[in-house]
Amino acid sequence: TWTPDNFVDMTVAELKEKLGNDRVVLGLSGGVDSTVAAVLLNKAIGDNLYCIFVNNGLLRKDEFESVLKQYEGMGLNVKGVDSSARFLDALAGIDDPELKRKAIGRVFIEVFDDEAHEINDVKWLGQGTIYPDVIESISVNGPSATIKSHHNVGGLPDFMKLKVVEPLKMLFKDEVRRVGASMGINPDLLGRHPFPGPGLAIRILGDITAEKVRILQEVDAIFINGLKQWGLYDKVWQAGAILLPVNSVGVMGDERTYEKCVALRAVESTDGMTADWVNLPYEFLQKTSNDIINKVKGVNRVVYDISSKPPATIEWE
Ligand code: XMP
Repeated sequence: TWTPDNFVDMTVAELKEKLGNDRVVLGLSGGVDSTVAAVLLNKAIGDNLYCIFVNNGLLRKDEFESVLKQYEGMGLNVKGVDSSARFLDALAGIDDPELKRKAIGRVFIEVFDDEAHEINDVKWLGQGTIYPDVIESISVNGPSATIKSHHNVGGLPDFMKLKVVEPLKMLFKDEVRRVGASMGINPDLLGRHPFPGPGLAIRILGDITAEKVRILQEVDAIFINGLKQWGLYDKVWQAGAILLPVNSVGVMGDERTYEKCVALRAVESTDGMTADWVNLPYEFLQKTSNDIINKVKGVNRVVYDISSKPPATIEWE
């Protein structure tokens, strides 16, 4: 019978056999899959696993620093690369969602490739691909693939000439979490909501600026921390805030304001293919809305997204 402990023992033995003294490079995203893949590989080959964690400047507030620290604490051989400026430059003036994804994918590959070249004699690319990713990238004609190009599946371009090692390829998400738990990975990290590869770029509708990223990071942090404080985080499959390309009139003291509007989104789902909006308590929404408007300069209106998928998607772009 399949147990997480058996899986770890078997996979570590297989990886040792397969990789020997070879070096492996792996991109960490802060998500569950790449983290579990890295810890497994690290168990098998130690510091011959070179992890790269890229800050694209579109992560959640303080996420790059805090997650990098966690990775280091787990004993991973990891290099944090802050390329925020490079990503923001590449995104300047782009408002089309697919072009945003392409620009981010392109810069990520450039940054990753530069970093991989720094490692002498690297032979393998490690990836946190899980079974549903394999299925999704096979069914390229499926609706989700044509609506949005999920750039993080399929690996890096051929020119890198690396063999691919994907230790989680046969696992479903819940199995990945169980494997992670059996290796002692922090439950907070394993229980994290999914977060899209292009990050906040696809939650800022319209063009992206550093100021908009800052505003959205503040709003998102208030929402997500609130969900945690109210014990709601684990009841929700995914949550986040969206910065709308809309200014609305408000009033502060005697002054008329004309500032940004944000939408909050929280959904229940099992695989992201369908989703229902979550009936969050009014008291929570009330407190969160007040906090956002009082604390985040530049925002004077908060709305809650009550659309299910289909026909709406989870992300707005
Ligand atoms: P949608 O918006 O299609 O999202 O209902 C379904 C799930 O996919 C995530 N998502 C992405 N993940 N790159 C990713 O890595 C992307 O370009 C992308 N677009 C959507 C979304 O956050 C949700 O979990």
